[in-house]
Amino acid sequence: MVALQRPLLAAACLFLCCGVLSSPDPRLREALIQLEASMQTGGRMVLTEAEQRLDALLFEMKQEAVSAAIFPPAVHFFRAKRLIQTSPIFKLLQKMPKGGALHVHDFSMVDVDWLVKNVTYRPNCYMCSTDDPSVRFIFSAQWPKPLARCSPWVLLENLRTKLVNTTDLDNSIRTNLTLFTDEDPEAAFPSQAAVWGRFEQAFLAVWGLVTYAPVFRDYYYQGLTQFHADNVMYLELRALLPQVYELDGSSHDRAWTLKTYQDVTERFVSTHPDFFGARIIVTNQRRATRSAVAAAVEEAMQLKKDFPDFMAGFDLVGQEDRGRPLWYFRDALSLPAEKGVALPYFFHAGETDLEGTDVDQNVLDALLLNTSRIGHGFALVRHPVAKDLSRKRGVAVEVCPISNQVLKLVKDLRNHPAAALMLENHPVVVSSDDPAMFGASGLSYDFYEAFVGFGGIKSHLGSLKQLAMNSLRYSALPPQQQEEALVLWQRRWNQFVTENDPNGTFFRH
Ligand SMILES: *[C@@H]1O[C@H](CO)[C@@H](O)[C@H](O)[C@H]1NC(C)=O
Ligand SMILES: *[C@@H]1O[C@H](CO)[C@@H](O)[C@H](O)[C@H]1NC(C)=O
Ligand SMILES: *[C@@H]1O[C@H](CO)[C@@H](O)[C@H](O)[C@H]1NC(C)=O
Ligand SMILES: *[C@@H]1O[C@H](CO)[C@@H](O)[C@H](O)[C@H]1NC(C)=O
Ligand SMILES: *[C@@H]1O[C@H](CO)[C@@H](O)[C@H](O)[C@H]1NC(C)=O
Ligand SMILES: [Zn+2]
Repeated sequence: MVALQRPLLAAACLFLCCGVLSSPDPRLREALIQLEASMQTGGRMVLTEAEQRLDALLFEMKQEAVSAAIFPPAVHFFRAKRLIQTSPIFKLLQKMPKGGALHVHDFSMVDVDWLVKNVTYRPNCYMCSTDDPSVRFIFSAQWPKPLARCSPWVLLENLRTKLVNTTDLDNSIRTNLTLFTDEDPEAAFPSQAAVWGRFEQAFLAVWGLVTYAPVFRDYYYQGLTQFHADNVMYLELRALLPQVYELDGSSHDRAWTLKTYQDVTERFVSTHPDFFGARIIVTNQRRATRSAVAAAVEEAMQLKKDFPDFMAGFDLVGQEDRGRPLWYFRDALSLPAEKGVALPYFFHAGETDLEGTDVDQNVLDALLLNTSRIGHGFALVRHPVAKDLSRKRGVAVEVCPISNQVLKLVKDLRNHPAAALMLENHPVVVSSDDPAMFGASGLSYDFYEAFVGFGGIKSHLGSLKQLAMNSLRYSALPPQQQEEALVLWQRRWNQFVTENDPNGTFFRH
C-alpha cells in the first residue's frame, strides 16, 4: 500500500502546487511515471536486495533482446522458438518456480517426439492414412476393422521392419501430430480456418494413441514429468474424459478415466514431494446440441459429487467462432444453480477477434454464469463492463500468448491485449493451452512471451513473482491448500533467487 500511496500523494500534491507553471514540472512527471509503474502487475511488490540484483540483471538481458536484429515476440513462435531457447532470459525463466499451469488441455501436454519414439514403437500399433491427408491410429490385439475414409490399416511394427531407414516415416508421423513446422508458418496456415482445420486433424491423429489405456496413463504421467521439469508445481487440466479402450476393444466409462487421472496424480506426487498436485476441469465440445450439453452438465454434477476434491469444475471447448455461444446453452448451464449443486465453471470465453458477435459476447455471459476464471479472454479489453466485473469479482483471465499467436488472433505479441491488463494489475495468469501442438512445452515459453513481449520493458521480477503467485491464488485449490502451496512456492522462489543472484556465491562458481 505504502508504495502506491506515496507517488499518488506526491502526484496529487504536485498537480495542485505546480499547476500554474508553464512548462511541465519534472517532479510531477517523475511522480506520475512512478504512479503508473506501481499500478502494473507486481508493481507494488517489495523486492529483497538479492531480488533487486536479479531484477537488474533481467533488465539488462531484456534491453539486449530488444536491440537484437530479431525480437522474438514480434515474430511467429515457430520462427522464434530457437532464438528463445538460446536467450538467457528464457534459461532463467525455465529455472524460475512458476506456480501452477491453470489452462492446459489433456492431449497436448507431452512433446510429440515422445508419442512418436515411445508410443508408436509399442507393439500392436496400427496406422491408416486419410486423404486430408492425415493419419489415424489404433492399438488392437486383432487386425482392426477398416475405418471409414482411411486407407487399410498397417501394423507399424511390420512396416518399420521393412524399412531400412525409419526417419522419414517418423517425421511424417510427427508432423501429423502437431502444428509445429520448420516451414514458413504464414504460408502453411494462411487463415484462422486453415490453422483450426489442421489443429483438429492433429487432435484426431493423436486421439487413437492417447486413449489406449496403457498409453493414457503413461501420457499423463509423462505430462506431469514435463511440467514438473519446467518448474511448474501444480496443474489444472481441462479434460474431455474420453472412453479409454483396452487391447481387446473393450472400453471404460468416464468415471474410470477421472479416477485414473487421480491415481496417476497421486503416484506422481508420492515420488515428487515438491509437486503440489493436479485437478481436472471436465470439458465438453461447444459444438454440441443443447441436450448433449445438458447431459454433460448433469454428468459433471455427478462426477463433482464423486470426486469433490479432485474435479475442479466444467468448461466448453473447441473453436469459439465456429461453436455455439454460452448464451445458447444458458438453460443447461443453469441446472446446477437451479438444483443447488456446486459446479464451478472455467469457461473459455472471448478467444476471438470478431468484435460484436454472439461469440464475442461470451466474456460477459461467462461472468453472468458465474465463471471462476476466463479462458483466454482475448476480447475482454473490448468489454469495459465485463472487464470491471472480472476485476471486482477476482475472476482471473488465463492468458495463453503462444496459442493466440499460432491460432492467428495476434501477430506481434507486443500487441497482445493482455498488455493493457497487466499494466493495471488485472487478475491474470499465464498458461500454455496446447503446448505440444504449438511446439512449446511446460510454461516457460509462454512466460517468455508475456514477460518480454507484452510485458514490455517495464515488467520486472516483481511482475513475474506476481504472476506465479496469481497462479496459486486464482487456482481451484481451497484457501487452506493455497496457503500451503504458496509456502512451498516461496521456499522454491527464495532458492531460485539465491542460486541466480549475480552477486551471490552460487553465481560466481
Ligand atoms: C516408454 O515410456 C514408458 C513409460 O515412461 C517406459 O516405461 C518405456 O520404457 C518407454 N519405452 C520406450 C520404447 O521408450
Ligand atoms: C535416414 O534418413 C534420414 C533422412 O532421410 C537421414 O538424414 C539419415 O542420415 C538416415 N539415417 C541412416 C542411419 O542412414
Ligand atoms: C501426414 O501423413 C500423411 C500420410 O502418411 C502424409 O502424406 C502427410 O504428408 C502428413 N502430413 C503432414 C502435415 O506431414
Ligand atoms: C450466479 O450467482 C448468482 C448469485 O450467487 C445466483 O443467483 C445465480 O443463480 C448464479 N447463476 C448460475 C448460472 O450459476
Ligand atoms: C557485491 O558484493 C560485494 C562484496 O560482497 C559488495 O562490496 C558490492 O557492493 C556488491 N555489489 C552489488 C552490485 O550489490
Ligand atoms: Zn484452451
